[in-house]
Amino acid sequence: MKVLLVGGGGREHALGWALAKSPLCDELVSLPGNPGMAGLGPMIEGLDPKDVGAVAAFARQQEIDLAVIGPEAPLAVGIVDALGSLGIPAFGPTKAAARLEASKAFAKDVMQRAGVPTGSFASFTEAPPAKAYLAEQGGPYVVKADGLAAGKGVLVTEDLAAAEDWVDRCLTGSFAGDDGGASVVIEEYLDGPELSVFVISDGERGIALQPARDYKRLADGDAGPNTGGMGSYSPVGDIAHDLVRTVLDQVALPTIRQMADDGNPYVGFLYCGLALTSAGPKVIEFNCRLGDPETQAVLPLLESDLLATLRDAAAGRLAEETLKFSDGAAVNVVLASGGYPESPRKGDVIHGLDEVDDDVLVFHAGTTIDDRGHTRTNGGRVLSVVGLGDDVSSARSTAYRAASKITWKQQQYRTDIAGGE
Ligand code: AMP
Ligand code: GLY
Repeated sequence: MKVLLVGGGGREHALGWALAKSPLCDELVSLPGNPGMAGLGPMIEGLDPKDVGAVAAFARQQEIDLAVIGPEAPLAVGIVDALGSLGIPAFGPTKAAARLEASKAFAKDVMQRAGVPTGSFASFTEAPPAKAYLAEQGGPYVVKADGLAAGKGVLVTEDLAAAEDWVDRCLTGSFAGDDGGASVVIEEYLDGPELSVFVISDGERGIALQPARDYKRLADGDAGPNTGGMGSYSPVGDIAHDLVRTVLDQVALPTIRQMADDGNPYVGFLYCGLALTSAGPKVIEFNCRLGDPETQAVLPLLESDLLATLRDAAAGRLAEETLKFSDGAAVNVVLASGGYPESPRKGDVIHGLDEVDDDVLVFHAGTTIDDRGHTRTNGGRVLSVVGLGDDVSSARSTAYRAASKITWKQQQYRTDIAGGE
């Protein structure tokens, strides 16, 4: 098969690595890819993944057999619809189905109708009623921009004044949605450890990947601002044995069925971001894609053929057998540039990339190669350093040993990823 992989972050590097391993994969074409993916196949520059008509025309001209879409942005503007209109099979939700991530109010409505456990919430387009509602709630307050904000549109705080300021920020510009209509969602605080469960859906059926845990805050001990994610590990030891089945039965499958009943079937990765509360798992958010950085810890452990599974799901004929994972563990430490997430530095030379051992995978995200062949930083999250091992603790030592060899100016990383395991 000739596969088109859309995206160029750490998640896509890990996805591309897993897809290219499949005996079914004759060629992997990445759009745009990143410097770490050069060995996986051709990388296409100069074509914007959000220019969905041009991407579909390119895919037809290349005779692509399956397109796999990594990030949310091209999904939210209809890349799967555009590919479908030219008859190109694609794994990912349509624009209408991708609203499960693109609009938090839409997602809450689907969850309510499907009976999926989640927190109570209210959505506002004006500040005064939003602030009045906030004042009625006790802390911690959860205030979210209703639109795509790369994980940075959420404030969780005990401080009512800060929550009120965030309402203003959500409604006046910087986080306003693509459709121009700014709205803010105020949610019940869900108390409990978080867990990410990814489900592969063919529009009717769903099968789950092994869960992972993500570290969203910038600094050790969950201090500092929210980021896209600073590390992850899998498997997660403290979860109940049958929890994945519970998440499928109570969360993912009812959602997939509700979307199908609404005439808006959901094909793609359904990311269930959960809080494991004392009353059971509750949904914090849905995303219409795999998590980044969780993917980098989950896919190295997958033994089943990912490409065969995604091909079947895109064709609406997913076999309901479970996916096979190795008994080992993976820990992903994200190395970020100075200034991330507010104002990431770019252009710092990266040292030590050649010094990592075989039991380590380094997935690139924000990197570039300069004229002299040096790899330099080129964005907020720069590299995912993934240690593999028999258990989480040995995978963790391996990841940190490798992370300490890779350096650049003002590099930041957390030292407590998977530390509680
Ligand atoms: P989101 O972008 O909706 O995933 O939110 C980012 C992070 O904010 C989540 O991973 C949680 O750590 C936190 N968060 C969001 N919503 C809630 C909530 N309702 N209760 C507790 N924490 C939340
Ligand atoms: N790791 C969080 C996300 O991908 O949204």
